[in-house]
Amino acid sequence: MRIETVAVHAAFSVDPSTGAVAPPIHLSTTFGRDEAGVPLAGHTYVRESNPTQDLLEEALSRLEGGEAALAFGSGMAAGLAVAQALPPGSHVVLPEDVYYAYRVAARDFFPAWGLTATFAPLDQPDALAGALRPATRLVWLESPSNPLLRITDLARAVSVAREAGAVVLVDNTFATPILQRPLDLGADVVLHATTKGMGGHSDVQGGALVFSKKGDLFEKVRHVRTILGAVSSPFNSWLVLRGLRTLAVRARFQSESAFVVAKALAVHPAISRVNYPGLPGHPGHETASRQMSAFGSMISFHVAAGREAAIEAVGRTRLFTRATSLGGVESLIEHRATSEGAASTAPGDLVRLSIGLEHPDDLVADLVQSLRV
Ligand SMILES: Cc1ncc(COP(=O)(O)O)c(C=O)c1O
Repeated sequence: MRIETVAVHAAFSVDPSTGAVAPPIHLSTTFGRDEAGVPLAGHTYVRESNPTQDLLEEALSRLEGGEAALAFGSGMAAGLAVAQALPPGSHVVLPEDVYYAYRVAARDFFPAWGLTATFAPLDQPDALAGALRPATRLVWLESPSNPLLRITDLARAVSVAREAGAVVLVDNTFATPILQRPLDLGADVVLHATTKGMGGHSDVQGGALVFSKKGDLFEKVRHVRTILGAVSSPFNSWLVLRGLRTLAVRARFQSESAFVVAKALAVHPAISRVNYPGLPGHPGHETASRQMSAFGSMISFHVAAGREAAIEAVGRTRLFTRATSLGGVESLIEHRATSEGAASTAPGDLVRLSIGLEHPDDLVADLVQSLRV
């Protein structure tokens, strides 16, 4: 079955009790047991599992090609549940431009959890081998990365990490499973901020992990979620599931539009560099062409006149909304260093775009009127 069909049909069924085509939202926090104490339908309490979240997890597993999935209350909670499942003394390798809040988490929380971290430019072929240590248990990859759109060769990184006995997690938020499937390339876990493209409408926060195997790691992470409690609510699970139904068409359209916008920005005299893996001059273009079916809806670019000019350009757009986040139907623009705040390592001249569902010609016109040569 092709991915577009999976997006619509995974975990889809007509409700036998009502005939409803759209799934019900089960808000119940607790679930009945029979006379012998056996749960009537496998659920006991909402923090452990619930029927609406089950549907979402089944759909996520199918989309990423994994054996099992876990939905969380946010992308941060999802990613950090894997770190929390590691034994104390573990070492984690992360990309140097990993999504900034994970970098903050590694700085502020890893020490208390007994974890150490090394940040390395994992888009460079030999960087991972140099960052590994005997205690490395987790290799964390993000490709394309946020906000520099760097590309890591996932299959190659998996083979290097495997030899070192480390688990490989790939943050696939920017690509979505429509454009890239890390488990097919050998990764162990895929991470999503479902707040983004999967939800797709800037109205739900969530996170997810999809596991290649329903094994020991899955059980440990599920234990973290159940006991520490960072679950997805039934309503949020339902919203993300609804978003998944249109993900394929949105991801492809937004990707095509982003390519149009990136090409127009690449020849604009006010811009010194465009970071978009679809452009042939991007250092990761060849790798991205191998591991992605299209290049995604995210673009970042450097304003030649520097930080202040970048901030001013962002403030002049009319169609792009000046806001952080990504993957929604409306196009967003932000001065990335401002959004990230004090912990930011984003270059001062960097502007990030999330391309939505508007016509790309209108988006290009808006950007052109906002830039000053
Ligand atoms: C690539 C990436 N991963 C993870 C996250 C964290 O997701 P959330 O904000 O839902 O915690 C984000 C948020 O922007 C992100 O961009």
